[in-house]
Amino acid sequence: MRFGSPRTSLPPNWDCGYDISDYCNVAPEYGTLDDFKLFLDESHKRNIRVILDLVLNHTSDEHAWFLESKSSRANPKADWYVWVDTPPNNWQSCFDGDAWTYAPERGQYYYHYFMKQQPDLNWHNPEVKQAMWDAARFWLDLGVDGYRLDAIGTIYEDPKRTPHSVPMNLAELRRFSDLAKTPKELKLKDKYWHDMFKHQWGQAGLHDLMQELRAVMNEYGGDRMLVGEDDNIDYMGNGNDELHLVFNFPLMRTERLTPQHIRKNQKERLKRLNSLPVEKGWACNTLGNHDSSRIRTRYGDKLHDAELARLHAGLILTLKGTAFLYNGEEIGMTDYMLTDISQVKDTMGIWYYHAIVTGMGVHPEEALARTAEMTRDKNRTPMQWSKNSNAGFSPQDITPWLPVNPNYKDGINVKDQTQSPYSLLNYYQHLINVRKQSPALIFGEYTPIHAAAKDYFAFLRHTDSQKVVVVLNFSNKRLELDLTKVKEVKARTLHTLFSSADHSQKKQDLHALAINPFEIFIAEVKSTHG
Ligand code: NOJ
Repeated sequence: MRFGSPRTSLPPNWDCGYDISDYCNVAPEYGTLDDFKLFLDESHKRNIRVILDLVLNHTSDEHAWFLESKSSRANPKADWYVWVDTPPNNWQSCFDGDAWTYAPERGQYYYHYFMKQQPDLNWHNPEVKQAMWDAARFWLDLGVDGYRLDAIGTIYEDPKRTPHSVPMNLAELRRFSDLAKTPKELKLKDKYWHDMFKHQWGQAGLHDLMQELRAVMNEYGGDRMLVGEDDNIDYMGNGNDELHLVFNFPLMRTERLTPQHIRKNQKERLKRLNSLPVEKGWACNTLGNHDSSRIRTRYGDKLHDAELARLHAGLILTLKGTAFLYNGEEIGMTDYMLTDISQVKDTMGIWYYHAIVTGMGVHPEEALARTAEMTRDKNRTPMQWSKNSNAGFSPQDITPWLPVNPNYKDGINVKDQTQSPYSLLNYYQHLINVRKQSPALIFGEYTPIHAAAKDYFAFLRHTDSQKVVVVLNFSNKRLELDLTKVKEVKARTLHTLFSSADHSQKKQDLHALAINPFEIFIAEVKSTHG
C-alpha cells in the first residue's frame, strides 16, 4: 500500500470529513501532509500533544476500497464491506433512513449505519483490520500522540440481523421526537431510539478489537493514548488492555446541570473506574463537542448565560479527570440557527428537512425551524477570531463554509477577549493555569462535601501533598457556608487559589465562607500555621 501521495481530488465531505476517502493524507482545504508534519513538530516543541480522529466503522463510498469492493463480486476486496442480495431487515441508518443501499454495479445492497455515502466496513475480514491498523501506524510513525476513536459501538452488527421493533422509520421517529412533550411521550421516544438501533451497535467482538488496537499502540513508545467516542467504561477493559479513556457523556446528557445530577454522575462513574481489575481507570469529562449544542446555549437560562458559562467551565476544569473542551467554548460562542435551507451543510439536516416536507407535509417554515435546531451546523459555525469581516476566519471576499455567527461583533471573538482582563477567554486561561499548578486539581481524589446541598456543588480534591476545596454556586443567591464540620477542612485555613468573584481577602472564614451568586471558588486547605 502506498501512503501519502498527493491528493488528486477533493474529498467528498458528506459528513464534515467523517467520510474518509484516503486514510493517509490531508484534505486539501486543510493543507498538505507536509503542513501537518510541520504543525505536529511545532506543537510538540510547545509541549502540546496532538491526537487525531480515527474513523473505524466506515469509509467514504469514494474510498478506493469501496470502489473496488462494489465493482464486482469477484474483486479481491469484494468482502471488505457488508453486502447482501436483498435487505434482510428494516434496519435504519441513523442519518438518512434505510440502512441498506443498492449498488447496481454488483446488483447487491450494502449496509451503512450512517449516511449511504459512508458504507460500513466488514470488520470480520482480517484484511480490513490489517489495512486499518496500517493506517493507524502511518500517523503514529509520524509522531501523533493518539486517537479519538469514532463511533466504536457501531463497528459490529447483530449476526442474526434481528429486525427492530419500532413501529416507524427514522424520519417518523425524528418527527415523533420533535413533537414529544409529555413525560410519557419523552420516555417512549427514548425507548424507541434504543430499540431502533440496539441490534446495530454494542455487539460482541468489540473488546477483542479494542485489545488489538491497544496492542498496535503499545508498539510505540511515548505516552500515547486512545479515547473512545463512547461512554461505556467496559471499553477500558481491565484498565490496561483496551482504551485509555472513554467520555463521560452521561454528565452532559441532561437539560440542566444541577449539583444533584453532577454528584450522582461522579459517584457512579468514579466507583466504576476505581474498580477496574488490573489498573484503575482515569476519568474524562466534557460538556460539548461538534455534535452537540454549545454549552452557553444549551445550559444557559437566558438570564444568567454569561455567569453559567463561567460556572460550567469551572466545573469541567475542576472535576477529576481529563477535560475535553470544544473550540469556541472558551470565548462563549453560541449556537447559530440557520435561516434558509440553502445554508444547511449537515447532510443529516438536509435529509430530514426534505423527509418531513415532502414525506409528511410539514410546512417548510416549521421544517426549517426544526432542521436548524437538530442540525449540527448550529454549533459548527466558523471560529470567531476578531471583529474583522467573517470574524477574521476568512478574508472578506471569501464566503465561509457556514455563515459566521453575527455575535462576533459583540465581543465574542478572540482578539477583543485577549485585550479584556475580565473576558471569558482570560477566565479560562487563568483557571487552566491554576489547574496546571495544582497537583490536587490534576491528580487528586474527589470527595464530595455538603452532599445534600441543592444550590451548590462542593468537593475536595486531594493528593498526599495538597488538598483543595472547590465550591460551585449554581444559584443566583449569595451563600454563606459553614465548613467547620467538614473533617478534612476544620481547624485549617483556606487560601484562595481562584475565584470568579472578588475575594479581596486571601484567607477565608470557615464559619461563614461567603460565596457570590454563580461563583466558582477554589482554595487550598492549609494548616493554620502554614
Ligand atoms: C461521530 C462523529 O462525532 C460525528 O460527527 C459523525 O457524523 C459520526 N460519528 C459518523 O462518523
